[in-house]
Amino acid sequence: MVSTWLRSLIRSYRRHAAHFASRFSPRSHSGSEARLGMSGGCGYTLALMNDIIKPGLDALSQAGLPELSVVVPTFNERDNVTVLYRRLEATLAGIAWEVIFVDDNSPDGTWDVVRGLARKDSRVRCIRRMGRRGLSGACIEGILASSAPYAAVMDADLQHDETQLPKMVALLRSGEAELVVGSRYVEGGSADSFDKQRAGFSQLATKLAKQTLAIEIADPMSGFFMIRRDRFEELAPQLSTQGFKILLDLVASAQGKLRAVEIPYTFGSRQHGESKLDSMVALDFLGLVLAKLTHDIISLRFLLFAMVGGTGLIVHLVILFIGHEVMNAPFAEAQAAGALVAMTTNFILNNFLTYRDQRLKGFAILRGLIVFYIVCGVGLLANVGVAFSVFEQEPIWWLAGLAGALMGVVWNYAMSGLFVWRRR
Ligand code: GDD
Ligand code: MN
Repeated sequence: MVSTWLRSLIRSYRRHAAHFASRFSPRSHSGSEARLGMSGGCGYTLALMNDIIKPGLDALSQAGLPELSVVVPTFNERDNVTVLYRRLEATLAGIAWEVIFVDDNSPDGTWDVVRGLARKDSRVRCIRRMGRRGLSGACIEGILASSAPYAAVMDADLQHDETQLPKMVALLRSGEAELVVGSRYVEGGSADSFDKQRAGFSQLATKLAKQTLAIEIADPMSGFFMIRRDRFEELAPQLSTQGFKILLDLVASAQGKLRAVEIPYTFGSRQHGESKLDSMVALDFLGLVLAKLTHDIISLRFLLFAMVGGTGLIVHLVILFIGHEVMNAPFAEAQAAGALVAMTTNFILNNFLTYRDQRLKGFAILRGLIVFYIVCGVGLLANVGVAFSVFEQEPIWWLAGLAGALMGVVWNYAMSGLFVWRRR
């Protein structure tokens, strides 16, 4: 009885998650629809048509179409982009290339500098994103905006060695590789410019990722790689737009089916500006490992949301204790105060952590907070309703309580993603 009920709850959660995924979750599908779409009859016809219309590389260069798109995510890199462009121009002389800068509306106006370059050279393109932040998401959008057979990802800050790009192209052209990784951790590569702490973290994370996700390449944390665009496009629906470990995500999602070759390079030091990676990236990283381990059932966002909910419970109890026991307030009032404070701290933490890539600012915070109160209020009703109905069927208090709490958190999560932190 109970297990049937639990199974149906999990089923409905999954259905729910798939339904809302595109709105509130960074990974768009863990459901089966997307995969069916890729391998179904329609996919086959498409592949056939692609073969017929696919121009050879010679035809590409004759038509002036790029063979390689270099995708460069940028945030506050105005002093670096022109230098990088010049270096690309020099090193890619024999290749038909373009560069796609994906800028998250940098306050320093990086996008404006890129526009200036693009007005003089049509090989330069700029995607300016509004209301969004995130390295992985920017890379994904950049590659998906390309129609070239090969796409590379590299940083704007000149830490990645662009002179490796022709070698990477050659490896893809020859068919020896579908993915070429610029690696700091193979013979000949290095990351000397890292300070001790960063080097330690990088190595620890690499070890953890390799062991838990059975990854074979030496540097899955590298931000410098080149991939066949058609292979990327197949994997794209499974990738997380949150966080910054896009290569790790790619390799883990491909489950060994991506032929990878690593080439050594030396990670240089930053020329201008500063690194955007803060201590939060550790959290993003653990979330990604967890998501891949659970086959995308648990997303990082959901996990963070649930964890914040847990802290809310503690806040609630503390306020209840202070109000009722210490200040002798009536129980109902102390309980209401506890709930209000807990909802408020939950909102602040979620805005800071769970949805930091879509953080509400200014007046939007107030509006968001009010909607969050309403969402949580209804969530509480759903929680109690489910708990009651379970208790009626099976009078086990903790099971009923747990089911109610689960219902509450799933509801709050789904509705917050739709109404509070909606994507602009
Ligand atoms: N669009 C966009 N949005 N770009 C971003 C964002 C963002 O939120 N955050 C960072 N970037 C851009 C930066 O402007 C830079 O071009 C690039 O992404 C890398 O960011 P850095 O802040 O320079 O990262 P890092 O040098 O500490 O780490 C890099 O190198 C490591 C080793 O290869 C990253 O590429 C890591 O992913 C990589 O592990
Ligand atoms: Mn950097």
